[in-house]
Amino acid sequence: MSEELLSRSFTLRGRDFDKGGETSTEIKTLLKKLEIDPQVIRRVVVVSFEAEMNVVMYAKEATLTFVLTDDDISIEVADRGPGIPDTKLAMEEGWSTATDEMREMGFGFGMGLPNIKRHSDFFDLHTEVGVGTTVTSRIMLDGRG
Ligand SMILES: Nc1ncnc2c1ncn2[C@@H]1O[C@H](COP(=O)(O)OP(=O)(O)OP(=O)(O)O)[C@@H](O)[C@H]1O
Ligand SMILES: [Mg+2]
Repeated sequence: MSEELLSRSFTLRGRDFDKGGETSTEIKTLLKKLEIDPQVIRRVVVVSFEAEMNVVMYAKEATLTFVLTDDDISIEVADRGPGIPDTKLAMEEGWSTATDEMREMGFGFGMGLPNIKRHSDFFDLHTEVGVGTTVTSRIMLDGRG
């Protein structure tokens, strides 16, 4: 059994582009202080940033839960929002429903979910249309899946 060392949760708000990314930055600062392997930090920050921005762009609000154990880091982002009607499509690189406004801000390449999966050792996407979406990701500290 792995031992839980630290756990934090954050509230994320939809449409809040000004604060979008702040939680990921906070997690990055925390992991640097804990002297976690920079490669692991990079992967965790990609996961949390992409999941956080998806909440900002598509959902109402969410709770991001961060857990560090002696084995791994897990990030769970559970939102209340529209859900994803077709998760197979949503996981495809380049598929996006982002608005022109979002694209002008540099988002909407349809790369967020594929990148979260690529940077995770364990990945799960659970969604219910009209209710919300939960993204779960786990990254091993030793760099082996
Ligand atoms: N939390 C969510 N709630 C509802 N729909 C979502 C959520 N996350 C993703 N989606 C849907 O899945 C699509 C693909 O998401 P993904 O993160 O891969 O790309 P994107 O957000 O469109 O662009 P990028 O992440 O490159 O800025 C989105 O365009 C959106 O339709
Ligand atoms: Mg995205």
